[in-house]
Amino acid sequence: MSVELTANINTVDTPVLWLDLDAFESNVERMYALCKKHNVLWRPHVKASKSPQLAHKLLTGGAHGITCAKVSEAEAMVDGGIKDILIANEIIGSKKISRLMTVAKQAHVCIACDDATNIQEISAAAENAGVEIDILVDINVGANRCGVTPEQAVNLAQLVEDLPSVRLRGLMGYEGHVMGMQSEDKEAESKAAADILKEARTQLDAVGLAPEICSGGGSGNYWHAASLGAINELQAGGGALMDISYQELMKVPDHRYALFINAQVISKAVSGRVILDAGWKTTGRHTGLPSIVSHEGMEVISLNAEHTIVAVDDNVNLNHGDRVTLVPHYSDSTVLLHREMYAVRNNFVEQIWPITGAGALQ
Ligand SMILES: Cc1ncc(COP(=O)(O)O)c(C=O)c1O
Repeated sequence: MSVELTANINTVDTPVLWLDLDAFESNVERMYALCKKHNVLWRPHVKASKSPQLAHKLLTGGAHGITCAKVSEAEAMVDGGIKDILIANEIIGSKKISRLMTVAKQAHVCIACDDATNIQEISAAAENAGVEIDILVDINVGANRCGVTPEQAVNLAQLVEDLPSVRLRGLMGYEGHVMGMQSEDKEAESKAAADILKEARTQLDAVGLAPEICSGGGSGNYWHAASLGAINELQAGGGALMDISYQELMKVPDHRYALFINAQVISKAVSGRVILDAGWKTTGRHTGLPSIVSHEGMEVISLNAEHTIVAVDDNVNLNHGDRVTLVPHYSDSTVLLHREMYAVRNNFVEQIWPITGAGALQ
């Protein structure tokens, strides 16, 4: 790495992805404080941030462990020294199950399951590998993605209880359908999802399988999810980075933008426009266009693969090589495009974090 660690981020070549540590720490403090207030443990999802060093910062900031989406993401985290991971997803097929066993030899791992055959396969593989896998029965709390009904959960929980090398830890109910809802519906729909999870808890309690962990909640509703009495572990993570989508679509309150991209002007040949050296291969564009935060009178109007097209007011006077700072629209579709993230305080680079979870899709 040729960059001096004391470099000003504005001297690092572009396009470059960077994290404002002060803003990030303020978001982390806010999320952790809310969890503490409601006696909920915080297990932030790292599917957006994908860097073990950033995960360590979350743990320093109060997180109890982390949440991953995939086995390969968990592998990247374990390689980076993380020791307590929930894979909040179903892990299907002998190849992935075998990789899961390797992860479980190096870290404490809990996974979500919604199928009896899958649980049997995981039990057999864990017994064979000499490890124990913790299991949360995945409840469909309205997202209609994965997960069983509260009634079906009883049989699955009993199966986990009866099989060797798997340990029933509780329930997961991720209310993904609520995240993008209008503010006026969000509280009621979060409550409806929480009620389904509570019902599953009641059903397990009734047969003597009281869940120790009830896990759910995302950045788009965490302030509701943590307060409704259904979960005792919160999965919300991306809000620590914050972006336009969390701000505008999910209305996450009082967070600061922490994730930025610096780009440079490479052309102003067309009147009323400047062109930046970062396109959708840098910003992502799953949910929308990035916003410019360094200058007034500039608006991103479209993204090509390697170019951002910006409309500029007459009074904007930018030259070739001038730097512009953007906030990505959705960090989840941005970070994974990069190899490293610069950790920056007061414009100075403190650390450079490899994004080892980029491309970890299996
Ligand atoms: C299982 C699960 N948990 C939690 C989340 C919330 O993630 P974040 O808080 O990063 O938006 C998601 C988002 O897709 C998810 O799929």
